[in-house]
Amino acid sequence: MRTPLVVANWKMHGTCAEARTLALGVREGLQGVEGVEVVLCPPFTALAAVGGVLAGSRLGLGAQDAHWEAAGAFTGAVSPAMLVELGCRVVILGHSERRQHFGERDEMINQKVRAALAHGLTPILCVGEREEERERGATFAVVETQLRGGLAGLGAAEVARVVLAYEPVWAIGTGRNATPEQAVEVHAFLRGLLGEAASKEVAQAARILYGGSVKPDNVGPLIAEPEIDGGLVGGASLRAPEFAAIVRTVGAAGGGRP
Ligand code: 13P
Repeated sequence: MRTPLVVANWKMHGTCAEARTLALGVREGLQGVEGVEVVLCPPFTALAAVGGVLAGSRLGLGAQDAHWEAAGAFTGAVSPAMLVELGCRVVILGHSERRQHFGERDEMINQKVRAALAHGLTPILCVGEREEERERGATFAVVETQLRGGLAGLGAAEVARVVLAYEPVWAIGTGRNATPEQAVEVHAFLRGLLGEAASKEVAQAARILYGGSVKPDNVGPLIAEPEIDGGLVGGASLRAPEFAAIVRTVGAAGGGRP
């Protein structure tokens, strides 16, 4: 059974003071919610502050990226060990904004996935096609390359510790979410690839999140699909009531997925 997971990706938003207020709002807004795991991923600079607010709650802390080395001459980078020290359990890797604006390629993302696993972090590996790629029928080829590249060289036990996120680039920050049908066919395809990369059991147990303009008013039909194990939420995660409404809908959709 797969427990649904909702992850807030705050991207480059929030000073420490703002992040603390938002985290408090989320914590309070989610009192009593069950059947869903929740992780907040603030900017690096706010990790300690948000970690303080979340202490003693069931909400988890995550980061938006990590380097692949434990330490070294990598100006501006943050290592998995540094994130673990701050209480992070999760790290988003290979987000399309990292690919687009920071030139990240699958080989580099693979190094990051390996490093995160080696430090006991749960990587959320993001894949997704651009609009132009969907239009020319390349969606499956694109996500297959990203998935195989990101998981290259991992054994089944390591693949089992990875969470996937399908985030079509054309749906991110556009207000235009993928339809449940569009998401389901990619999720099912990704699950099939996990079966090849690891095993059928690993694929069945793996959580595959959908991301891209997830809002309180569209999450219901998405999470009603057994193939969709939760959401990776950007814009709507910056407003506590909206994010809490999304999490409540996911929690109410019913605990474990078959
Ligand atoms: P939006 O929810 O703002 O579309 O962002 C999605 C995303 O990129 C989450 O990682």
